[in-house]
Amino acid sequence: MDKTVFPKGPIGIFDSGFGGLTVFKEIVNLLPQYDYIYLGDNARVPYGTRSFDTVYEYTKQCVSKLFEMGCNLIILACNTASAKALRTLQHNDLPEGKKILGVIRPTAEVIDQYTSNQVVGILATPGTVNSQSYLLEIQRFHPTIQVHQQACPFWVPLVENNDLDSAGAHFFVKRDLEELLARQPEMDAIFLACTHYPLLLPLIQQYAPPKVRIVSQGTLVAESLQHYLERHPEIKNRCKTGGLLTFYTTDQADEFDKKAEIFFGQDVKSKFIRV
Ligand code: DGL
Repeated sequence: MDKTVFPKGPIGIFDSGFGGLTVFKEIVNLLPQYDYIYLGDNARVPYGTRSFDTVYEYTKQCVSKLFEMGCNLIILACNTASAKALRTLQHNDLPEGKKILGVIRPTAEVIDQYTSNQVVGILATPGTVNSQSYLLEIQRFHPTIQVHQQACPFWVPLVENNDLDSAGAHFFVKRDLEELLARQPEMDAIFLACTHYPLLLPLIQQYAPPKVRIVSQGTLVAESLQHYLERHPEIKNRCKTGGLLTFYTTDQADEFDKKAEIFFGQDVKSKFIRV
């Protein structure tokens, strides 16, 4: 019988930049008892326009760093990394006793609860859209749901630059939403399948028809994590409690702190890390 005892560690939360903080905020609200380490790869954001190999390599380096820092469970709070790197990491790069979870499956699992007419839209980075991950996952759980996708390549740079209400932001949000809705005007729910996009919610709501429900992932992912830990006591017992939050960025810490507050809703004090 395997008697290996793994020391407890913080839960790792990873994103290419600031976007994962919108998910992290909801996780901390729901599960404040755990210790967490957030790692944002701000030096190399955006991931959404990069190749499979590049996203995999970057994500692998960041995840390895979080494992080195003692995390036993990591959430990829990034759709692009979940779409392009998660499966390979789970198959090839998982040290014994460690786990990595993504954000696509938790969203796909409950998507039926948000649509009455079974027609939904997905707004995401080009990488997530091209990977087809949402189409495949939704088809697996809810084969009758019709899914339409729209890539929004300019939204992450707008959000990373805190350019949330400029003429440019209005132009791109309006244009991409119109393109999505033109594919099937009947859709009654649109999912923000990039963790950066909730910051653009006021604009998205302004340009979406009132009958369309706009859904952010943060609470869905937090609830899914809660259920996962309930189902897997062996993992839950390896998550350190104490409520300590630590933030790392691969770029300038003072810059990270200024913007992170907007995403996280409270003061953030980060440290620089090389991955
Ligand atoms: N936040 C990431 C996501 O959820 C994308 C950001 C990026 O392009 O790096 O897809």
